Amino acid sequence: MKILVVGGGGREHAIAWALRREAPGAELFAAPGNPGTADLATNLPIAATDIDRLVQAVAAHGITFTVVGPEAPLALGLADRLRAAGHPVFGPDRAAAEIEASKAFSKALMDRASVPTARSRTFTDLAAGLAYVATHPEPLVVKASGLAAGKGAVVCPTRQDARETLAAMLGEGKFGDAGKVVVIEDFMPGEELSLLAITNGHGIELLPAAQDHKRLSEGDQGPNTGGMGAYAPVALATPALLERARREVLVPTLAQLEKDGAPYNGVLYAGLMLGPDGTMRVVEFNCRLGDPETQVVLPLVEGGLLDCLQSVARGAAPTPLRIGKGSAVTTVLAARGYPDSPEKGAAITIPPSLPDGVTVFHAGTMRDGDGTLRASGGRVLNVTAVAPTFPEAQRRSREVAEAIHFEGKIFRRDIGWREAARRGV
Ligand code: GLY
Repeated sequence: MKILVVGGGGREHAIAWALRREAPGAELFAAPGNPGTADLATNLPIAATDIDRLVQAVAAHGITFTVVGPEAPLALGLADRLRAAGHPVFGPDRAAAEIEASKAFSKALMDRASVPTARSRTFTDLAAGLAYVATHPEPLVVKASGLAAGKGAVVCPTRQDARETLAAMLGEGKFGDAGKVVVIEDFMPGEELSLLAITNGHGIELLPAAQDHKRLSEGDQGPNTGGMGAYAPVALATPALLERARREVLVPTLAQLEKDGAPYNGVLYAGLMLGPDGTMRVVEFNCRLGDPETQVVLPLVEGGLLDCLQSVARGAAPTPLRIGKGSAVTTVLAARGYPDSPEKGAAITIPPSLPDGVTVFHAGTMRDGDGTLRASGGRVLNVTAVAPTFPEAQRRSREVAEAIHFEGKIFRRDIGWREAARRGV
C-alpha cells in the first residue's frame, strides 16, 4: 500500500505518524512534508496547492490512497480531480469544501438547515456594511468570507474597531480576495469546542472532542493565532452533549449539503460555542482536520483509523475507531514575532530522548545544507504528550516544550487551563 499525505504542517506530520503506527508496512509519501515527515515518509517537493503536479505524482508513484490535510487543495478541487481519475482520496469535493472556503456560503447553509449559529449579515459593499455596523450592539465579529489562514475572523470590542476592520477588508483589500465578501455577526460568549466528525454524509464517527487555544499569550491574551496548543478529550463534552451536537448540528448540516447537491465526504470540523446560558452554536465549519487539534486527537486513536478513512473514501460509512482512555496535550512552540512577522532561521535543539508518550510534531521547520534543523515558519513545533491522566499529559508537554531550544521560542505554559480548573487540578 502506498499512502500520500498532502500538506506540510504539524497536522500532516501527525497524520503521517498515525498512519505509520497503523500500517507499519505501508510506503508513505508527503507533499511537500517537512523534516518530521521525512523520518516517516518520502517527501515530494510539491506544494499542497499545486493540484496538477499532485495528481500527476499520485499516478506516477502508484499511490493507492491519498489523505488531504489542509483546506486550500480541497477548495481548489484536488479531491474531485483524484476521484475523477479513479484514485481513492480522503477529503471532500470542492463544492462541499465551500463550507470552509466561503463563510457566506456556510452561514446561508446553516440558515437553510436551521443549525444554531450567531445572527449575521453578508456584505460586499463598504457603505452598506458601515451602515449595518452603526446600529449593531458591541462587541461584534467581522469575518473575511474566504480562506485567510486562520486570521480572517476579527472580534471587535467596539463599533469603531469593526469600522476599521471592515475598511481594511472591503476598502483597502488587506485580506485580498478572501476579504471581498465580509460576514458581520453577533459576538458569542462562552467556551469553544472543536468537534471532528469523520463522515460519508450519513454515518458519523467522532474523534475525541478537543479544545484549541487561539490567543497568543497565557490567560487567553494577545492576538489570535492559528492555535497555540490543544488538548483532548474535554470533560465538558459529555456523551449527552455530543449526542446533541450530532442531532442539532452535524446531521442537519450534512443533510442540507446533500439536498443542495454538495454531499459531504471526509472530516467535518464543527467549531462550537457553548454559551453560559446552555446554548450550542456553530462558530465555523472547516472541511479538514484541525491544527493543532489533530496533534492531540490522532495520538488517542489506538486503532481503526486507516480503515475508517478508507471506508469513507469509498463512500461507505465510517468504521469504528478505537479510542484510548488517556489524555493528550500539545504545546505549540512558535517563533518570535508570530503571528504577524515570525523570525526565521533559528537553529533548533530537541533533547535526544523524550519521556514516554511524548512526540514532537514538526510544523515550520527546515534542514539547512549541513543538516541543522531551523525554524522556517510561525508555528515551529508541537509537543504532544499522551498520558493516563490530563495533569500528567499537561506537565509532560510543558516540560518538553521548555527543554527544546531555539532563539526567540515562544509558547504558552497554560494549555488546558480550563480543563485544569474544571477538574480542580
Ligand atoms: N485550530 C483551528 C483550525 O484548525 O482551524
